[in-house]
Amino acid sequence: MAVLITGGTGYIGSHTVVEMLNNDYEVIIVDNLSNSKIDVLDKIYKITGKKVKFYQYDLCDETLVDKLFNENKIDAVIHFAGLKAVGESTMKPIEYYYNNILSTLNLIKVMKKNDVKKIIFSSSATVYGKQDKFPIEEGFKLNEPTNPYGKTKLYIENILKDLYKSDSSWDITLLRYFNPIGAHESGLIGEVPNGIPNNLMPYINQVATGKREKLFVFGNDYDTVDGTGVRDYIHVCDLAYGHLCALKHLKGLNIYNLGTGNGYSVLEIVKAYERVNNVKIKYEIAPRREGDIDTCYASPKKAEDEIGFKCTRDLDEMCRSSYNFEKKNNKL
Ligand code: NAD
Ligand code: UFG
Repeated sequence: MAVLITGGTGYIGSHTVVEMLNNDYEVIIVDNLSNSKIDVLDKIYKITGKKVKFYQYDLCDETLVDKLFNENKIDAVIHFAGLKAVGESTMKPIEYYYNNILSTLNLIKVMKKNDVKKIIFSSSATVYGKQDKFPIEEGFKLNEPTNPYGKTKLYIENILKDLYKSDSSWDITLLRYFNPIGAHESGLIGEVPNGIPNNLMPYINQVATGKREKLFVFGNDYDTVDGTGVRDYIHVCDLAYGHLCALKHLKGLNIYNLGTGNGYSVLEIVKAYERVNNVKIKYEIAPRREGDIDTCYASPKKAEDEIGFKCTRDLDEMCRSSYNFEKKNNKL
Protein backbone atom coordinates (compact mmCIF):
# COMPACT_ATOMS: atom_id res chain seq x y z
CA MET A 1 0.00 0.00 0.00
CA ALA A 2 1.41 3.41 -1.00
CA VAL A 3 0.83 6.28 1.40
CA LEU A 4 1.42 9.92 0.54
CA ILE A 5 2.62 11.74 3.65
CA THR A 6 2.32 15.51 3.34
CA GLY A 7 4.58 17.43 5.72
CA GLY A 8 6.58 14.20 6.07
CA THR A 9 9.91 15.88 6.85
CA GLY A 10 8.33 17.80 9.76
CA TYR A 11 8.30 16.82 13.43
CA ILE A 12 5.29 14.48 13.63
CA GLY A 13 5.44 13.58 9.94
CA SER A 14 9.00 12.23 10.11
CA HIS A 15 8.19 9.98 13.08
CA THR A 16 5.11 8.72 11.25
CA VAL A 17 7.14 8.02 8.11
CA VAL A 18 9.44 5.83 10.25
CA GLU A 19 6.44 4.01 11.73
CA MET A 20 4.97 3.37 8.28
CA LEU A 21 8.27 2.18 6.78
CA ASN A 22 8.83 -0.15 9.74
CA ASN A 23 5.43 -1.63 8.95
CA ASP A 24 6.27 -2.13 5.27
CA TYR A 25 4.14 0.60 3.76
CA GLU A 26 5.47 2.34 0.68
CA VAL A 27 5.89 6.02 1.52
CA ILE A 28 5.99 9.12 -0.66
CA ILE A 29 6.71 12.43 1.06
CA VAL A 30 5.68 15.86 -0.16
CA ASP A 31 6.94 18.89 1.77
CA ASN A 32 7.90 22.41 0.73
CA LEU A 33 10.56 22.49 3.49
CA SER A 34 9.15 25.75 4.87
CA ASN A 35 9.57 24.35 8.38
CA SER A 36 11.84 21.33 8.01
CA LYS A 37 15.12 20.29 6.45
CA ILE A 38 16.03 17.93 3.65
CA ASP A 39 18.56 16.05 5.85
CA VAL A 40 15.62 14.46 7.69
CA LEU A 41 15.45 12.07 4.71
CA ASP A 42 18.98 10.75 5.44
CA LYS A 43 18.05 10.33 9.07
CA ILE A 44 14.93 8.38 8.17
CA TYR A 45 17.16 6.17 6.02
CA LYS A 46 19.62 5.68 8.92
CA ILE A 47 16.79 4.60 11.20
CA THR A 48 14.85 2.35 8.83
CA GLY A 49 17.36 1.37 6.12
CA LYS A 50 14.69 2.37 3.61
CA LYS A 51 14.67 5.13 1.02
CA VAL A 52 11.63 7.32 0.50
CA LYS A 53 10.48 9.11 -2.64
CA PHE A 54 10.47 12.86 -1.91
CA TYR A 55 8.90 15.83 -3.66
CA GLN A 56 9.74 19.38 -2.64
CA TYR A 57 6.41 20.79 -3.73
CA ASP A 58 4.12 23.40 -2.26
CA LEU A 59 0.62 21.96 -1.91
CA CYS A 60 -0.79 25.43 -2.59
CA ASP A 61 0.24 24.90 -6.22
CA GLU A 62 -2.50 22.73 -7.71
CA THR A 63 -0.52 21.90 -10.86
CA LEU A 64 2.22 20.36 -8.72
CA VAL A 65 -0.30 18.34 -6.71
CA ASP A 66 -1.71 17.11 -10.02
CA LYS A 67 1.76 16.10 -11.18
CA LEU A 68 2.38 14.23 -7.94
CA PHE A 69 -0.74 12.13 -8.39
CA ASN A 70 -0.08 11.57 -12.09
CA GLU A 71 3.39 10.22 -11.35
CA ASN A 72 2.47 7.95 -8.44
CA LYS A 73 -0.06 5.33 -7.58
CA ILE A 74 -1.29 6.53 -4.22
CA ASP A 75 -3.72 4.56 -2.04
CA ALA A 76 -4.11 6.88 0.95
CA VAL A 77 -2.95 10.24 2.24
CA ILE A 78 -1.82 11.32 5.70
CA HIS A 79 -2.03 15.10 5.69
CA PHE A 80 0.33 16.81 8.16
CA ALA A 81 1.44 19.76 6.02
CA GLY A 82 0.49 23.10 7.49
CA LEU A 83 1.70 26.12 9.41
CA LYS A 84 1.35 25.59 13.15
CA ALA A 85 2.60 28.51 15.25
CA VAL A 86 -0.29 29.90 17.29
CA GLY A 87 1.33 33.29 18.03
CA GLU A 88 2.51 33.81 14.45
CA SER A 89 -0.98 33.02 13.16
CA THR A 90 -2.43 35.99 15.03
CA MET A 91 0.06 38.28 13.23
CA LYS A 92 -0.19 36.59 9.82
CA PRO A 93 -3.79 35.32 9.64
CA ILE A 94 -4.06 35.48 5.85
CA GLU A 95 -0.89 33.42 5.38
CA TYR A 96 -2.31 30.79 7.76
CA TYR A 97 -5.75 30.61 6.13
CA TYR A 98 -4.18 30.61 2.66
CA ASN A 99 -1.57 27.95 3.34
CA ASN A 100 -3.51 25.54 5.52
CA ILE A 101 -6.86 25.73 3.76
CA LEU A 102 -5.76 26.06 0.15
CA SER A 103 -3.25 23.20 0.47
CA THR A 104 -6.02 20.97 1.84
CA LEU A 105 -8.51 22.01 -0.85
CA ASN A 106 -5.98 21.33 -3.61
CA LEU A 107 -5.15 17.99 -2.10
CA ILE A 108 -8.72 16.72 -1.81
CA LYS A 109 -9.67 18.11 -5.21
CA VAL A 110 -6.83 16.23 -6.88
CA MET A 111 -7.45 13.13 -4.75
CA LYS A 112 -11.05 13.10 -5.95
CA LYS A 113 -9.95 13.50 -9.58
CA ASN A 114 -7.70 10.46 -9.16
CA ASP A 115 -10.27 8.47 -7.20
CA VAL A 116 -8.07 8.36 -4.10
CA LYS A 117 -10.58 8.73 -1.30
CA LYS A 118 -8.72 7.85 1.88
CA ILE A 119 -7.34 10.62 4.06
CA ILE A 120 -6.15 11.08 7.64
CA PHE A 121 -6.00 14.69 8.78
CA SER A 122 -3.89 16.25 11.57
CA SER A 123 -6.36 18.13 13.69
CA SER A 124 -5.76 19.40 17.18
CA ALA A 125 -7.20 19.52 20.68
CA THR A 126 -7.42 23.24 20.03
CA VAL A 127 -10.79 22.64 18.30
CA TYR A 128 -12.33 21.90 21.71
CA GLY A 129 -11.53 25.40 22.98
CA LYS A 130 -12.23 25.92 26.68
CA GLN A 131 -14.11 23.00 28.24
CA ASP A 132 -15.21 22.53 31.82
CA LYS A 133 -15.57 18.75 31.90
CA PHE A 134 -12.61 16.34 31.73
CA PRO A 135 -11.43 14.12 30.21
CA ILE A 136 -12.45 15.57 26.86
CA GLU A 137 -14.45 13.22 24.64
CA GLU A 138 -14.80 13.46 20.87
CA GLY A 139 -18.53 14.15 21.16
CA PHE A 140 -18.09 17.31 23.26
CA LYS A 141 -19.36 20.53 21.73
CA LEU A 142 -16.53 22.33 19.93
CA ASN A 143 -15.78 25.93 20.83
CA GLU A 144 -14.36 28.25 18.19
CA PRO A 145 -10.58 28.53 18.79
CA THR A 146 -9.29 32.00 19.68
CA ASN A 147 -6.53 32.14 17.06
CA PRO A 148 -6.36 31.78 13.24
CA TYR A 149 -4.21 28.63 13.44
CA GLY A 150 -6.84 26.84 15.52
CA LYS A 151 -9.58 28.11 13.26
CA THR A 152 -7.89 26.57 10.22
CA LYS A 153 -8.06 23.20 12.01
CA LEU A 154 -11.76 23.64 12.78
CA TYR A 155 -12.59 24.85 9.26
CA ILE A 156 -10.68 21.98 7.62
CA GLU A 157 -12.49 19.50 9.87
CA ASN A 158 -15.77 21.02 8.63
CA ILE A 159 -14.66 20.90 4.99
CA LEU A 160 -13.82 17.21 5.34
CA LYS A 161 -17.10 16.49 7.13
CA ASP A 162 -19.02 18.21 4.32
CA LEU A 163 -17.05 16.25 1.75
CA TYR A 164 -18.05 13.01 3.46
CA LYS A 165 -21.69 14.13 3.64
CA SER A 166 -21.64 14.73 -0.11
CA ASP A 167 -19.96 11.42 -0.94
CA SER A 168 -19.80 8.64 1.64
CA SER A 169 -17.43 6.57 -0.46
CA TRP A 170 -14.64 8.65 1.13
CA ASP A 171 -12.82 7.28 4.18
CA ILE A 172 -11.82 10.19 6.40
CA THR A 173 -10.26 10.17 9.85
CA LEU A 174 -9.73 13.35 11.84
CA LEU A 175 -7.08 12.91 14.52
CA ARG A 176 -7.14 15.45 17.32
CA TYR A 177 -3.65 15.55 18.80
CA PHE A 178 -3.09 16.68 22.35
CA ASN A 179 0.47 17.86 23.18
CA PRO A 180 3.13 15.89 21.29
CA ILE A 181 6.63 15.96 22.82
CA GLY A 182 9.70 13.72 22.84
CA ALA A 183 11.74 12.30 20.00
CA HIS A 184 12.77 9.05 18.34
CA GLU A 185 15.04 6.96 20.58
CA SER A 186 17.91 7.26 18.07
CA GLY A 187 18.09 11.01 18.73
CA LEU A 188 18.23 11.52 14.96
CA ILE A 189 14.79 13.05 14.43
CA GLY A 190 12.83 15.33 16.74
CA GLU A 191 11.40 18.80 17.05
CA VAL A 192 13.48 21.68 15.70
CA PRO A 193 11.74 24.92 16.62
CA ASN A 194 12.20 28.05 14.58
CA GLY A 195 13.44 31.00 16.68
CA ILE A 196 12.22 31.36 20.26
CA PRO A 197 10.15 28.25 21.05
CA ASN A 198 6.45 28.83 21.77
CA ASN A 199 5.87 25.41 23.24
CA LEU A 200 6.87 24.21 26.67
CA MET A 201 9.14 21.24 25.94
CA PRO A 202 11.31 22.89 23.25
CA TYR A 203 11.77 25.83 25.62
CA ILE A 204 12.76 23.56 28.53
CA ASN A 205 15.23 21.78 26.20
CA GLN A 206 16.92 25.07 25.42
CA VAL A 207 17.18 26.00 29.10
CA ALA A 208 18.66 22.55 29.80
CA THR A 209 21.37 22.99 27.16
CA GLY A 210 22.18 26.55 28.20
CA LYS A 211 20.73 28.25 25.12
CA ARG A 212 18.21 30.14 27.28
CA GLU A 213 18.67 31.31 30.82
CA LYS A 214 15.33 30.33 32.32
CA LEU A 215 11.83 29.16 31.61
CA PHE A 216 8.95 31.57 32.07
CA VAL A 217 6.02 29.70 33.60
CA PHE A 218 2.90 31.37 32.26
CA GLY A 219 0.68 31.75 35.31
CA ASN A 220 0.52 29.96 38.67
CA ASP A 221 -3.00 30.98 39.62
CA TYR A 222 -4.98 28.53 37.49
CA ASP A 223 -7.45 26.19 39.13
CA THR A 224 -5.07 23.20 38.91
CA VAL A 225 -2.97 21.00 41.21
CA ASP A 226 -0.24 23.66 41.66
CA GLY A 227 -1.73 26.63 39.82
CA THR A 228 0.16 26.03 36.55
CA GLY A 229 -1.46 24.90 33.27
CA VAL A 230 -2.30 21.22 32.83
CA ARG A 231 -1.93 19.44 29.47
CA ASP A 232 -2.01 15.93 28.05
CA TYR A 233 1.53 15.30 26.78
CA ILE A 234 1.92 12.41 24.36
CA HIS A 235 5.17 10.88 23.09
CA VAL A 236 5.57 11.63 19.39
CA CYS A 237 6.34 7.95 18.68
CA ASP A 238 3.03 6.93 20.30
CA LEU A 239 1.35 9.61 18.22
CA ALA A 240 3.00 8.19 15.09
CA TYR A 241 1.70 4.74 16.05
CA GLY A 242 -1.78 6.28 16.28
CA HIS A 243 -1.59 7.01 12.55
CA LEU A 244 -0.79 3.39 11.82
CA CYS A 245 -3.84 2.33 13.88
CA ALA A 246 -5.99 4.91 12.07
CA LEU A 247 -4.78 3.82 8.64
CA LYS A 248 -5.51 0.16 9.38
CA HIS A 249 -9.08 1.10 10.38
CA LEU A 250 -9.73 3.83 7.83
CA LYS A 251 -13.41 3.36 7.01
CA GLY A 252 -16.16 5.99 6.87
CA LEU A 253 -15.89 9.27 8.76
CA ASN A 254 -14.25 9.02 12.18
CA ILE A 255 -12.79 11.35 14.77
CA TYR A 256 -10.30 10.30 17.45
CA ASN A 257 -8.42 12.00 20.25
CA LEU A 258 -4.76 11.05 20.37
CA GLY A 259 -3.67 11.69 23.93
CA THR A 260 -2.73 9.62 26.96
CA GLY A 261 -5.59 10.63 29.23
CA ASN A 262 -3.13 12.01 31.83
CA GLY A 263 -2.82 15.69 32.64
CA TYR A 264 0.46 17.13 33.93
CA SER A 265 1.10 20.66 35.14
CA VAL A 266 3.99 22.81 33.89
CA LEU A 267 5.83 22.37 37.20
CA GLU A 268 5.28 18.60 37.14
CA ILE A 269 6.92 18.53 33.71
CA VAL A 270 9.84 20.62 34.95
CA LYS A 271 10.35 18.31 37.95
CA ALA A 272 10.18 15.13 35.86
CA TYR A 273 12.62 16.59 33.31
CA GLU A 274 15.10 17.57 36.04
CA ARG A 275 14.90 14.17 37.73
CA VAL A 276 15.17 12.03 34.60
CA ASN A 277 17.95 14.02 32.95
CA ASN A 278 19.78 15.13 36.07
CA VAL A 279 19.76 18.79 35.05
CA LYS A 280 18.47 21.97 36.68
CA ILE A 281 15.76 23.98 34.94
CA LYS A 282 15.73 27.54 36.25
CA TYR A 283 12.29 29.11 36.04
CA GLU A 284 10.39 32.24 36.92
CA ILE A 285 6.65 32.66 37.35
CA ALA A 286 5.37 35.06 34.68
CA PRO A 287 1.88 36.41 33.87
CA ARG A 288 -0.64 34.14 32.14
CA ARG A 289 -0.24 33.86 28.35
CA GLU A 290 -3.17 35.31 26.46
CA GLY A 291 -5.50 32.67 25.04
CA ASP A 292 -4.24 29.88 27.34
CA ILE A 293 -6.71 27.61 29.12
CA ASP A 294 -6.15 26.09 32.55
CA THR A 295 -6.65 22.40 31.77
CA CYS A 296 -6.83 20.15 28.73
CA TYR A 297 -6.62 16.36 28.67
CA ALA A 298 -8.14 13.69 26.51
CA SER A 299 -10.27 10.66 26.90
CA PRO A 300 -8.31 8.20 24.71
CA LYS A 301 -11.03 5.54 25.14
CA LYS A 302 -12.66 5.82 21.71
CA ALA A 303 -9.31 5.43 19.94
CA GLU A 304 -8.48 2.46 22.13
CA ASP A 305 -11.85 0.75 21.64
CA GLU A 306 -12.23 1.37 17.92
CA ILE A 307 -8.72 1.42 16.43
CA GLY A 308 -6.70 -0.34 19.15
CA PHE A 309 -4.59 2.71 19.98
CA LYS A 310 -2.70 2.65 23.28
CA CYS A 311 0.27 4.73 24.45
CA THR A 312 3.23 2.78 25.77
CA ARG A 313 5.71 5.56 26.63
CA ASP A 314 5.49 7.44 29.93
CA LEU A 315 6.42 10.99 30.91
CA ASP A 316 9.97 9.97 31.92
CA GLU A 317 10.54 8.58 28.44
CA MET A 318 9.16 11.77 26.89
CA CYS A 319 11.56 13.92 28.94
CA ARG A 320 14.54 11.60 28.35
CA SER A 321 14.13 11.43 24.57
CA SER A 322 13.53 15.20 24.30
CA TYR A 323 16.79 16.00 26.07
CA ASN A 324 18.67 13.30 24.14
CA PHE A 325 17.59 14.83 20.81
CA GLU A 326 18.33 18.36 21.97
CA LYS A 327 21.87 17.49 23.07
CA LYS A 328 22.63 15.78 19.77
CA ASN A 329 21.08 18.27 17.39
CA ASN A 330 20.29 21.73 18.57
CA LYS A 331 23.82 22.80 19.45
CA LEU A 332 24.64 26.21 20.93
P1 NAD B 1 5.99 20.78 11.38
O1 NAD B 1 6.02 22.23 11.08
O2 NAD B 1 7.20 20.17 11.98
O3 NAD B 1 5.60 19.95 10.07
C1 NAD B 1 4.72 20.44 9.09
C2 NAD B 1 5.43 20.32 7.75
O4 NAD B 1 4.56 20.81 6.71
C3 NAD B 1 6.73 21.10 7.66
O5 NAD B 1 7.78 20.24 7.30
C4 NAD B 1 6.46 22.14 6.56
O6 NAD B 1 7.62 22.42 5.80
C5 NAD B 1 5.35 21.49 5.75
N1 NAD B 1 4.46 22.41 5.02
C6 NAD B 1 3.78 23.49 5.51
N2 NAD B 1 3.04 24.05 4.55
C7 NAD B 1 3.22 23.31 3.41
C8 NAD B 1 2.72 23.40 2.09
N3 NAD B 1 1.90 24.39 1.71
N4 NAD B 1 3.12 22.48 1.17
C9 NAD B 1 3.98 21.48 1.54
N5 NAD B 1 4.48 21.36 2.77
C10 NAD B 1 4.11 22.26 3.71
O7 NAD B 1 4.72 20.52 12.33
P2 NAD B 1 4.33 19.25 13.20
O8 NAD B 1 4.49 19.59 14.64
O9 NAD B 1 4.98 18.04 12.67
O10 NAD B 1 2.76 19.21 12.92
C11 NAD B 1 2.20 18.41 11.89
C12 NAD B 1 0.71 18.68 11.80
O11 NAD B 1 0.12 18.39 13.07
C13 NAD B 1 0.37 20.13 11.50
O12 NAD B 1 -0.76 20.15 10.66
C14 NAD B 1 0.03 20.69 12.87
O13 NAD B 1 -0.85 21.78 12.77
C15 NAD B 1 -0.63 19.50 13.54
N6 NAD B 1 -0.58 19.56 15.00
C16 NAD B 1 0.63 19.74 15.63
C17 NAD B 1 0.67 19.83 17.03
C18 NAD B 1 1.98 20.06 17.74
O14 NAD B 1 1.95 20.44 18.92
N7 NAD B 1 3.14 19.83 17.12
C19 NAD B 1 -0.52 19.73 17.78
C20 NAD B 1 -1.72 19.52 17.11
C21 NAD B 1 -1.74 19.44 15.71
N1 UFG C 1 4.08 27.20 28.96
C1 UFG C 1 4.86 27.93 29.84
N2 UFG C 1 6.00 28.50 29.37
C2 UFG C 1 6.41 28.41 28.06
C3 UFG C 1 5.58 27.66 27.17
C4 UFG C 1 4.43 27.08 27.65
O1 UFG C 1 4.55 28.05 31.03
O2 UFG C 1 7.44 28.98 27.70
C5 UFG C 1 2.87 26.54 29.47
C6 UFG C 1 1.57 27.02 28.82
O3 UFG C 1 1.08 28.15 29.50
C7 UFG C 1 0.69 25.79 28.95
C8 UFG C 1 1.68 24.62 28.83
O4 UFG C 1 2.95 25.17 29.15
O5 UFG C 1 0.10 25.74 30.22
C9 UFG C 1 1.71 24.01 27.43
O6 UFG C 1 1.94 25.03 26.49
P1 UFG C 1 2.35 24.72 24.97
O7 UFG C 1 2.57 26.03 24.30
O8 UFG C 1 3.46 23.74 24.93
O9 UFG C 1 1.06 23.97 24.40
P2 UFG C 1 -0.44 24.45 24.25
O10 UFG C 1 -1.26 23.48 25.02
O11 UFG C 1 -0.60 25.87 24.54
O12 UFG C 1 -0.68 24.27 22.68
C10 UFG C 1 -0.20 23.15 21.93
C11 UFG C 1 0.06 23.56 20.50
C12 UFG C 1 -1.23 23.88 19.82
C13 UFG C 1 -2.18 22.74 19.95
C14 UFG C 1 -2.38 22.38 21.40
C15 UFG C 1 -3.25 21.18 21.54
O13 UFG C 1 0.92 24.69 20.44
O14 UFG C 1 -0.99 24.08 18.46
O15 UFG C 1 -1.11 22.10 22.00
O16 UFG C 1 -2.80 20.16 20.75
F1 UFG C 1 -3.38 23.10 19.43
